[in-house]
Amino acid sequence: MTVPIPPGVYDIVPRDPKEPWRSSYIWNRVETVLREVAESFCCREVRLPMFERTELFQRSVGESSDIVSKEMYTFEDRGGRSLSLRPEGTASVMRACIDKQLYLLPEAQRLFYLGPMFRYDRPQAGRYRQFYQFGVEMIGNPHPEQDAELIQMIWTMHERLGMKDVVIGLNSLGNEATRRHYREALQAHCRPHFSEMSEESQRRFHVNPLRILDSKDERDKEVLKGAPTIEKFLDEVSRRHFARVQELLTALEVPFSIAASLVRGLDYYNHIVFEVTSGKLGAQNAVAGGGRYDGLMKELGGPDLPAVGFAIGLERLILTLLKTEGVEMGPPKIRLHIIPLGEKAVQAAMCLAGRVREGNVSCFLDLSARKLKAAMQQASGMGSEYVLVLGEEELTTCRAELKEMSTGRTQSFPLDAIPRFFQKSAQESAFDHFTSCNKC
Ligand code: HAM
Repeated sequence: MTVPIPPGVYDIVPRDPKEPWRSSYIWNRVETVLREVAESFCCREVRLPMFERTELFQRSVGESSDIVSKEMYTFEDRGGRSLSLRPEGTASVMRACIDKQLYLLPEAQRLFYLGPMFRYDRPQAGRYRQFYQFGVEMIGNPHPEQDAELIQMIWTMHERLGMKDVVIGLNSLGNEATRRHYREALQAHCRPHFSEMSEESQRRFHVNPLRILDSKDERDKEVLKGAPTIEKFLDEVSRRHFARVQELLTALEVPFSIAASLVRGLDYYNHIVFEVTSGKLGAQNAVAGGGRYDGLMKELGGPDLPAVGFAIGLERLILTLLKTEGVEMGPPKIRLHIIPLGEKAVQAAMCLAGRVREGNVSCFLDLSARKLKAAMQQASGMGSEYVLVLGEEELTTCRAELKEMSTGRTQSFPLDAIPRFFQKSAQESAFDHFTSCNKC
């Protein structure tokens, strides 16, 4: 009897023809682009534990949030500590900054991370119990310019990947007083309609009224018609901060729209919040989210340093990317496929493959000792670009024929020239561009 995979998790494998987004070559490419962009903004990587003390998330993400109250994988370890698999990365980054006093090092004030997060929610397309985030946190700068630069980074990542049809929604949650007054105003608006609201929103009415704005239930949407927006409750400083971010994004040609009811599901935010949504994803349409969280480091026992950050959900990013017109994501190619015939040829083939790979060229060596016909069929099935058969005769003459599989053309080369051929030839059909010297 086989053991099935638990619900809400999945494997990333070299190539998944049924669910192409689970193919590791796509993940590798996307992650490379995200890293490159983050590094071009001088962000440095942190790798943090996958579980932390439960208290860390209670004190940061917030006890009233859905994430902490309903979705955490919490367990007691053998030492009686309550631990939780991380549901997000920001809290751990803050904890590590405080532990290691990273805020004292100039190069550790812009951090990025990549890894799995865990939330126990009802699985559906785009929502998993283990999912991957690429996150960035910038520590120490309270100014709106930092927010704009961060949003410029997330936009650059989407652009660099060729993403279209994504929208950045922007809002401000102001300061503590803004949110307190707004909570009261929202409760006052909803109170007369309490019995018409969904059960979930009735619960949120008491514990976290701002989250009613996230409801997708038609009854709640009806109740929310004409509800006040947070904008009216912003103080002068928050208003100026919000306006400056918008001014800069406009100047940087980063498209955005104001999302008046965007409040985010984590308790640590103030001032700017934003979300990137995709029209191609259905219900789970948030590809990325973030914002400013100035009080969090102090709340966790560190110095009072401001911070702003975001996290991209990689599943949703990749799902959107694969639905985007013009984005080509083919599997990596094998450039050279060597088929040795006989024991002596195997040894020579291994040496040759080693030299070809020195140039970072992908080279597959067929060590199966199968018949030539079957080996050629396999080379064709694997989509190898060039095939070289190495037998007695090739070893004696020190020459071999290289076959270009897409055209069927062959050309004879001295064995010594083969590594140089692959290092030189980036073109599809490289024969015409390569002249081998006759000495080797
Ligand atoms: P979040 O909005 O909870 O923010 O998550 C960020 C992204 O992770 C979402 O936009 C979504 O793409 C992805 N995501 C969340 N839950 C799931 C799930 N169950 N399955 C698949 N994808 C999911 C945060 O986590 C904050 N820590 C972001 C942040 C960083 N704010 C400041 N710095």
